[in-house]
Amino acid sequence: MTGYHVLEGEELSRLRDPTRDFALDVLSGLSEDHKKLDSRYFYDDEGSRLFQAIMGCDDYYPTDCEREILENHGRSIAATCAGAPLNAIDLGAGDGAKTKILLRALVAMGVDCRYVPIDISEGAIAGLVEKMGEEMPEVEVQGLVCEYTDGLNWLSSLGDKRTNLLLFLGSNIGNFNKPRARAFLRRQWTSLQDGDYALIGFDLKKDIEVLLRAYNDSDGYTAAFNKNLLTRINRELGGNFVPEKFRHYGTYDVFSGAMVSYLVSLEKQDVEIEALGRSFSFQAWEPVHTEYSYKYLESDIESLAAHTGYVIEAKYRDSKHFFVDSLWRVSK
Ligand code: AVJ
Repeated sequence: MTGYHVLEGEELSRLRDPTRDFALDVLSGLSEDHKKLDSRYFYDDEGSRLFQAIMGCDDYYPTDCEREILENHGRSIAATCAGAPLNAIDLGAGDGAKTKILLRALVAMGVDCRYVPIDISEGAIAGLVEKMGEEMPEVEVQGLVCEYTDGLNWLSSLGDKRTNLLLFLGSNIGNFNKPRARAFLRRQWTSLQDGDYALIGFDLKKDIEVLLRAYNDSDGYTAAFNKNLLTRINRELGGNFVPEKFRHYGTYDVFSGAMVSYLVSLEKQDVEIEALGRSFSFQAWEPVHTEYSYKYLESDIESLAAHTGYVIEAKYRDSKHFFVDSLWRVSK
């Protein structure tokens, strides 16, 4: 019989297999001349726990800077967006600690605010929704387990007349290179409406020593965070990496403005990955690239907004001028 069949909805999601996607990305990354692993795989349960530890350590400044910004300027941000009922949409909310500072400012101003954290991890959303219920029961929470863009489109399909405030905090945008950051923000723009807002956290270019310390912290959390990727491959794909046979190396590329992280093989070794049915050879001192974390000039932020359809309403800096939360309005 000839014909065709459109795969969609539940049938399609049943066919999606995150472990297979992980396996195929590891296969292609480790098959390149310059080996690489994608930083989005850092965030399993243990990786998320290690990232919390990074955020709590003294050498990693971005979290403290952004907390200071939201504590000092949360009321001003809230006042700017206070004209209408809001959906505060949080992309990559984590434990929501910083967002809560902003939500408290909005509530204090009497804004009718619904909190919409979006994450592909159901565990993360379930935990956050429960915690919010305990800590801020006055705020309506509508968590969404999905891709970012699907979440925005689902919200707009509800047809409610709320103004959206899109939150992309913590310098999460830094994992995208500049062209991908543009594409990402433009994609969000198409799902937002004229007059909606976006609050985006950018880490600024600064003293290179400060950057190097933040990504090579003396407590060793960043090293453990990177090596956890190898442990994850061992557990989920049947690998036999010995994490101690690699060292974490974080360096700054002045031209691209990125902190770049690597795991460097300390000796010649072969590593087998069962799920891929093959092994990979590493030479002594051969690097595996694991992460980019792009830093911005204020002029980069201005041109990014101008090229993606947003008007900058305000920029808020910490006292050291290490970090900016930039408040944008969607212009259509
Ligand atoms: C979660 C992507 C913002 O790039 O600073 C922290 C991740 N990597 N230390 C960052 C990270 C190493 C972090 N982001």
